[in-house]
Amino acid sequence: MRILGIESSCDETGVALVDAEGTSVPRLLGHALHSQIAMHQAYGGVVPELASRDHIRRVLPLTDAVLAQAGLALSAVDAVACTRGPGLAGALLVGTGVAHALGMALGKPVISVHHLEGHLLSPFLSADPPSFPFVALLVSGGHTQLMRVDGVGRYELLGETIDDAAGEAFDKSAKLLGLGYPGGPALARLAEQGDDNAFKLPRPLLHSGDLDFSFAGLKTAVLTQVKRLAHAAPEGPATSHLADPLTAQQKADVAASAQAAIVDVLVKKSLAALTRTGLKRLVVAGGVGANARLRHQLDAAAARRGLRVHYPELALCTDNGAMIALAAGLRVQAGLVAANGPHGHFDVAPRWPLTELGAPA
Ligand code: KG4
Ligand code: ZN
Repeated sequence: MRILGIESSCDETGVALVDAEGTSVPRLLGHALHSQIAMHQAYGGVVPELASRDHIRRVLPLTDAVLAQAGLALSAVDAVACTRGPGLAGALLVGTGVAHALGMALGKPVISVHHLEGHLLSPFLSADPPSFPFVALLVSGGHTQLMRVDGVGRYELLGETIDDAAGEAFDKSAKLLGLGYPGGPALARLAEQGDDNAFKLPRPLLHSGDLDFSFAGLKTAVLTQVKRLAHAAPEGPATSHLADPLTAQQKADVAASAQAAIVDVLVKKSLAALTRTGLKRLVVAGGVGANARLRHQLDAAAARRGLRVHYPELALCTDNGAMIALAAGLRVQAGLVAANGPHGHFDVAPRWPLTELGAPA
């Protein structure tokens, strides 16, 4: 069964085709992506209306590209999957609208997919796929959650952020340092030149005894640190960007200290989740899962404790269509969605907790 997947929840248009035969892990036949990062950069963040318009421009050419990669015609598609949420309503409407139009034109079913389920299952497309059960650390721009995953569609929330997401902590710290959007990769690059221990930044809820996170205080601590350094600079505080009077080394040290604080908390809580559940496998998914320090620290801790950590391929860490097509395929294989069922209900769910996923109609 060939499933075309469309992702359009935020600032990436992703389209992919998977083959979900029998019970083997769906195979990727082609995938194409257009990132809107360059377009939003001028505004310092995602502009929802511009995002929607760009998804409209990209989605059909990307679909053509994916079919060409796979050497297949549109008529070879057996089902169309799309991200129903969570995400930006207008952006989601583009992908779901196109998916339903294609489904109707082809007379094929449409499968609605939860964006985070896509992230969570994305390591199944890697060379080293996990097996159930496992703990998943979901770390994206909008979410930071630890889930117990017993199978496709069987997710139990163990803990989550009570304020900012880990990706937001990266992005906001980067913004305070005058780095561009999205801040995560830029901050990680700058941190390579810095000293992790240069500044003592808080590790919120590290010893809270539960599996929740809090990153809002870290942003304030980074702000305070940048202000302190700016005021102490020979030329005094800047009139343009707050971080301008800082030396390159000071900026790198703040970046390294902020990254170390975020990663420390993510690693400690992930290990605590494994201890609590008694599970030995951790899956890391979502944009922040691309962070090299996070991967390094988790791998080192796993090696010491005899644990396994699985990641999606780097290219599939951030938003993409492959994870949407894959999640749809795995849901069909798990019997959670009828492969030859009617057209899914046409709606979007901008706010949609993964724990409310249930078995869709
Ligand atoms: O999963 P994703 O692409 O989109 C959402 O669903 O949110 O995640 C985007 C987030 C952004 O906050 C971005 O700064 C962060 O992932 N990110 C990183 C890295 N690459 C992306 N954060 C830290 N280090 C990275 N290498
Ligand atoms: Zn995402």
